Amino acid sequence: MLDVKKIRGDFPIYQSDKPFVYLDSASTTQKPQVVIDAVSTYYNAYAANIHRALYEIGEKATDAYENVRLKVKAFLNVPDTHSVIFTRSTTESLNLVAYAWGQKFLKAEDDVLVSEMEHHSNLVPWQLASKKKGVNLDYIPLADDGTLDTSKLGDLISSNTKLVSVGHQSNVFGTVNPVKEIIAAAKSVGAVTVLDGAQAVPHMAVDITDIHCDFYAFSGHKMVGPTGVGVLIGRTELLDKMDPFMSGGEMINTVTMKESTWNDVPWKFEAGTPNIAQVIGLGAAIDYLQLIGVDAIHDHEQSLLKYGLEILSQNKDITLYGNAANRGAVIPFNVKRVHSHDLAKFLDTDGICVRAGHHCAQPIMNHLGVSATARASFYLYNDKNDIDQLAKSIEKTARIFA
Ligand code: ALA
Repeated sequence: MLDVKKIRGDFPIYQSDKPFVYLDSASTTQKPQVVIDAVSTYYNAYAANIHRALYEIGEKATDAYENVRLKVKAFLNVPDTHSVIFTRSTTESLNLVAYAWGQKFLKAEDDVLVSEMEHHSNLVPWQLASKKKGVNLDYIPLADDGTLDTSKLGDLISSNTKLVSVGHQSNVFGTVNPVKEIIAAAKSVGAVTVLDGAQAVPHMAVDITDIHCDFYAFSGHKMVGPTGVGVLIGRTELLDKMDPFMSGGEMINTVTMKESTWNDVPWKFEAGTPNIAQVIGLGAAIDYLQLIGVDAIHDHEQSLLKYGLEILSQNKDITLYGNAANRGAVIPFNVKRVHSHDLAKFLDTDGICVRAGHHCAQPIMNHLGVSATARASFYLYNDKNDIDQLAKSIEKTARIFA
């Protein structure tokens, strides 16, 4: 187990006497002082635009920003630095692919395959692209244990399939999907492969070269970094062929009154002044996670998951959802007679933060036959005591609703 007391010392939010049991890291994570400092030092000491300001602080800001591209490359074993595009979020990264690749390369009657388990951000952009281009959108079905039924892959993937996009780890069940199997099936018919890694990168070692997908998206704020920064990693030859997603400053090479030509990748996809401070903060987050050790974080979360499942399953009022063998530290559940929104409000009176609702995954809720669930998710700053307090507060709430 990690030294949680020491880790909490790195996070200002844990320095108060108020009860604070934060179990919503799948939604967003708390920030260590080093990340906050990296952001504020940029604003305090070298706030300048990048790639244009030809003076010392401008060059410093440009170097700091571009250095984070190298950090992402090393962190995730990305083959090429030019593959790393900074966006605002995973959502923007996935929209970039759906628009800039989808609009250009999808044709009527092509098939796009996603899964029934997707977060809306890896589903709605494909629905829009499909409607616009007359493409058929298919789904890898969800099995009742919260895994994907990949036995149907052979039927779902054909020479008509042009793109397959799935989540690496589910934000609802924590299921780690068999992405290499799915990518191999997609590649066997020449389809482009996209992974939503928002829930994976913060919690496990991810090796992009080994996974061998064409696009991979994730967010800074779910990995102790700032909000407002996401990453899209794309295969450079595909990025070169795509049209820009957004246009304006910095993404051009030449502009005349008649037409424009584009900057090289990745800058072709970074129109306008980017979120410089947030990108620099992401760099500090990567350094911090590497210092603690991603494998150590993963092991710590696995023991919390095991303990959480053990403790919560002792309460007969609790229904737990999902049961994948390969699973991250996310536990969706409902408590008899208590709507998850009410539960979350009651838990909050004990200083416990969980998410309640449809988790931006309404097709999963439909599959489960519920409108919402509560969800506890764990990270490096959680310990078993957090789970004990959650269990106690759930029991107390269930008694109120009995
Ligand atoms: N995608 C985030 C969640 O699952 C917001 O809570």
